[in-house]
Amino acid sequence: MKDIRIITGKPIIPPPDTVNALFAGTHTAPDVSGITELYDRLLPKLKLHTLPKAALCIQERKNILHSDHYNPDALLLCAMLTIGSSIQRLIDRYAADGDPLAASLLNAMADSCLFAWEEQLHSAMLTLCREKNCGILRRLELPSDLPMHTQKAVFEALDADRTLGLSLTEGYMLSPEKSMSLIFELDELAPKKVPRHDCGKCRHPRCGFHSSVNLQIEQIRTDGTHTSPRTISCKKGSRLFDVLQEHRIPVSADCGGAGTCGKCGVTVRSGSVGVSPEDKLIFSETELNQGMRLSCNIRLEDDLSVLIPQAEETAFQILKGRTSYVPLAEQARYAPGSYGIAIDIGTTTIAFALLDLHTGICAASHTAINSCRAFGTDVIRRIQASNEGKKDQLQKTIQKDLLRGIDALLNQCPAQTIRLQKIVIAANTVMLHLLRGYSCEGFCRYPFSPVTLEREVLSFTEAFGASFDAGTPDVILLPGISAFVGADITAGLSTLSTRARNGSCLFLDLGTNGELALFDNHRLFTASTAAGPVFEGGNIRWGTGSIPGAIANVSIGEEGPSVCTVADMPPIGICGTGVIETVSELLSAEIIDKTGKLKEAYFEKGYPLANTMSGKTILFTQRDIREVQMAKAAIRAGIEILLLTAGISCDKIEQVFLAGGFGYYLNIPKAASVGILPKKLVSKTTAAGNTSLTGALFYLAKQTDAVLSELAADAVDVPLAADKHFQELYLSHMEFEKIT
Ligand code: FES
Repeated sequence: MKDIRIITGKPIIPPPDTVNALFAGTHTAPDVSGITELYDRLLPKLKLHTLPKAALCIQERKNILHSDHYNPDALLLCAMLTIGSSIQRLIDRYAADGDPLAASLLNAMADSCLFAWEEQLHSAMLTLCREKNCGILRRLELPSDLPMHTQKAVFEALDADRTLGLSLTEGYMLSPEKSMSLIFELDELAPKKVPRHDCGKCRHPRCGFHSSVNLQIEQIRTDGTHTSPRTISCKKGSRLFDVLQEHRIPVSADCGGAGTCGKCGVTVRSGSVGVSPEDKLIFSETELNQGMRLSCNIRLEDDLSVLIPQAEETAFQILKGRTSYVPLAEQARYAPGSYGIAIDIGTTTIAFALLDLHTGICAASHTAINSCRAFGTDVIRRIQASNEGKKDQLQKTIQKDLLRGIDALLNQCPAQTIRLQKIVIAANTVMLHLLRGYSCEGFCRYPFSPVTLEREVLSFTEAFGASFDAGTPDVILLPGISAFVGADITAGLSTLSTRARNGSCLFLDLGTNGELALFDNHRLFTASTAAGPVFEGGNIRWGTGSIPGAIANVSIGEEGPSVCTVADMPPIGICGTGVIETVSELLSAEIIDKTGKLKEAYFEKGYPLANTMSGKTILFTQRDIREVQMAKAAIRAGIEILLLTAGISCDKIEQVFLAGGFGYYLNIPKAASVGILPKKLVSKTTAAGNTSLTGALFYLAKQTDAVLSELAADAVDVPLAADKHFQELYLSHMEFEKIT
């Protein structure tokens, strides 16, 4: 009597990674995430039409294989697995009905199920081995290790027609197709684990993994420790940078994968990758020898193992100085446990605040890195990525970030029961388009025409593509003014006092783009400048967000530079305030001249600010200085054009509000010494912090409904690029003023 173990499994949800790899290998569509809807539609059918079943037994080698070279009494573990015949019929039906995409995706999902079923059987296999006091020496692949007719011997040993309802074709292939056999060589001294399928050796004609490679990733935390390794199957020939993006593994990418910013570096630990000309420009010889390469230049032709630096979320304080946001009369309308969420989707970071509507108190806050930065640090590159077919990927990325942030916020909430009433989102127009999955074609040429600038009220599912069980909150997207002066600015302007709005004041948001607003005599003029992301550390060789370890304060004395970092962690890069302070200090130490040229000694390599824990030197380069010059020139030219348009002089300005995530930490005299704003306005300037988030909170607390709509309707947007004075003013502000 044969000892055959028969195991029946439950329907399996195929792991998306594997489906992606298998689908990519058989179809020209870029990835599964791009056809998520179809995937979701097919999933219930897959579950209905699959019946995982397996038979296992241990056999002496002589019963399966005939060879003089091996011990005939050695033991083999034989297994046959199937997910049944119904799924193949369904795949064939889709193909016959003229829906090859569904047939192809369902086929990949079924293959993925089969491989997942094998993984689920590993513990049963090891139990069987243990009973024989053995481990698994190696896995024998058909037909590379064994001839195909071996399948017949395994089939008979397992009575597969009776136990599993399978049959064998004349060519020794299993029917139904979604079935497979496994053979393992056992040995008393072998390890007690099941070796995985080896794609390198596999010659199986139907193997879905033929065109895939394995990518192993470990991330390095800022404290130098590593995350546990994660393996991803991906399509052979894919670009590493794209795979990291698809799997939402954050990697810095100011240039969006163009190979010019040098931020997307990884260390190759095993696998062979050549050195590209771009690698040679970015990395030193030592770094190249250590395996450092730009991920946007790596094609995955073989299995690869890489180390990548992990970006950590920011933890800086985002709300200061207010105790209650909700007017007393409003508070009474809400029962205890009623909450609202305000969100500011910045281009670099996303800020969240949880408002207790009953008490008016901000109960929790959270900040996170905007994962869309993997598609480029500035909105222009994200527009390009969206228009080049990554619209769905970008939408999913931002939705995931928001869902994670909402989760983190609610987890901090002290209340037992939470009824979420409203979620209010402020963001620039491009980020709102990406969130909504709208086309970004309208941002490409003048006159820029976004799909909408209107306030939108959505359900949770419409906004985030997911369900929610702590209430049915409306999700409100605030209105914007123009393609590049978005809801983040209307929200920010709504936080200014009525007195400020009725007087003459300037509002500058130095986020990833420079947005400007001028109130004068009940009029409002707005503009956006292509200042770039330098004030958030973007486009800077060693630039980074305001994360622990980012250099935020710099002074340069006789003995050289000294720096302070966020959270006093060892230096890892330079954030926006650090960038401004570095330029200011370099100017006052006369290490750069008024044209922005670094002294000879630093011209080639840059000025050394500090060393990282691993001994690398954080440099501020000549190119970084040029970036700052271009950004500040664009902002100064923008301010002057707004003043010209309003017909007033700088002297009439009563107040200046400097907004931006880093606002609280900004040294205003140093910002003025760099030339970001006229020196005569320094004493009138206040750092206003993240006004976009505060504006979303005000809206949530029902303080600004009317104000916000008025602002959006009344603003006169001034297109700077079309202004005849812009170029001249821009060039005149490229130089630095003398430090006094
Ligand atoms: S160099 Fe690779 S993303 Fe910029």
